[in-house]
Amino acid sequence: MAEERAKGWKLRWLTARNRVLMDPGFQRFAMRNPLLRRTAQRHANSMFQVISGFVQTKALTAAVDAGIVRRLAAGAATTAELAQGAGLALDAMQRLLGAARAIDVVESAGDDLWVLGQRGAALASNEGALAMIEHHKIFYDDLADPIDLLKRGRGKSKLADFWTYAPAAGRGEPAAADAASWQGAGEGAVAPYSALMAASQPMVAQQVIDAYRFDRHQCLMDVGGGHGAFLAEVAARHPRLAMKLFDLPAVVEGARAKLAAQGLSHIALHGGSFRDDPLPQGADVISLVRICHDHDDDVVRALLRKAHAALPSGGRLLIAEPMAQTPGAETMGDAYFGLYLWAMGSGRPRTAQAYLSLLAEAGFTSAREVRTALPMATRLIVAER
Ligand SMILES: C[S@@+](CC[C@H](N)C(=O)[O-])C[C@H]1O[C@@H](n2cnc3c(N)ncnc32)[C@H](O)[C@@H]1O
Repeated sequence: MAEERAKGWKLRWLTARNRVLMDPGFQRFAMRNPLLRRTAQRHANSMFQVISGFVQTKALTAAVDAGIVRRLAAGAATTAELAQGAGLALDAMQRLLGAARAIDVVESAGDDLWVLGQRGAALASNEGALAMIEHHKIFYDDLADPIDLLKRGRGKSKLADFWTYAPAAGRGEPAAADAASWQGAGEGAVAPYSALMAASQPMVAQQVIDAYRFDRHQCLMDVGGGHGAFLAEVAARHPRLAMKLFDLPAVVEGARAKLAAQGLSHIALHGGSFRDDPLPQGADVISLVRICHDHDDDVVRALLRKAHAALPSGGRLLIAEPMAQTPGAETMGDAYFGLYLWAMGSGRPRTAQAYLSLLAEAGFTSAREVRTALPMATRLIVAER
């Protein structure tokens, strides 16, 4: 009853607030009023950021594709040098540099000399972010008509062709559920996404390693571990920890040579599908890094139960990924991942609270969130069996 009354009040308040905010007379008043002006400006500016976000994204993509970021990482350059390197006319490069300066990718060092801006400098050495900028081109193609994307239903997109384990409509429902088909799947079907994940993994791994003490464990199993980039980062800090990697057979095949090249042949490789197979026993800590958000609730429920069954009493399960409703990074969850995973054809962004509930349901005795340095990119939940 009290809840119903609170709902009623909330609805009346929101309706009244929005009536005022929609009134052009109030909008003019807010801009003229010294007390309200700053708030009104902030709202107007942030709305423009949303409206023009796509153009800013394209300016960033163009700055990377034109070689500006890589060239300036090597040292300052003139407009003419950058234009020549990109095969662009001088006036076109001037226009692009102006846009890149506005988004802090480049900065003028005077006398027609350009250097990286603060954002550009951080980006230049981040191979994962550069790979993501390239990868996002297919997502933007899918988003060219977002209503059409939503009408077509989940997974009817270029992204679904990229993430070959997602149960996209075109490949039958669900492609990855048939373990036998994966035994025969060539590496070509999984190599592009495995390479993208390996390139972007250091951004994630460092945060997990800084936030969690792996030194109290004997053996770590990374489920959906791709080409082993996460395990390689953990091994560099914890060389005595035994390790297992579980992923689809074709992915594990690709991991073998990569791990051997890094002197990590001792990592035990297990090919299988967590949709169909039990998880191998023997690890006292299991990690799921950027795995759960890719899958629907029924798959995640079953996966968490399998992780529970594979762990000894007192063993830990780590879930590391970006999550919905992250304070200060709200758009990452429901705006970005919501649409990304729709296009990809499976999964959804979940809040940390949703994972805590799913973990309790799967039988874990306790679970809590552990703070990471950059929650926008990685939040971490640790559960105990
Ligand atoms: C988004 S990638 C994350 C890779 C890695 N954990 C990382 O963060 O870089 C998801 C991984 O889950 C694997 N995967 C998807 N479905 C799977 C399944 N049914 N069984 C085992 N692995 C699966 C994929 O092959 C891929 O390596």
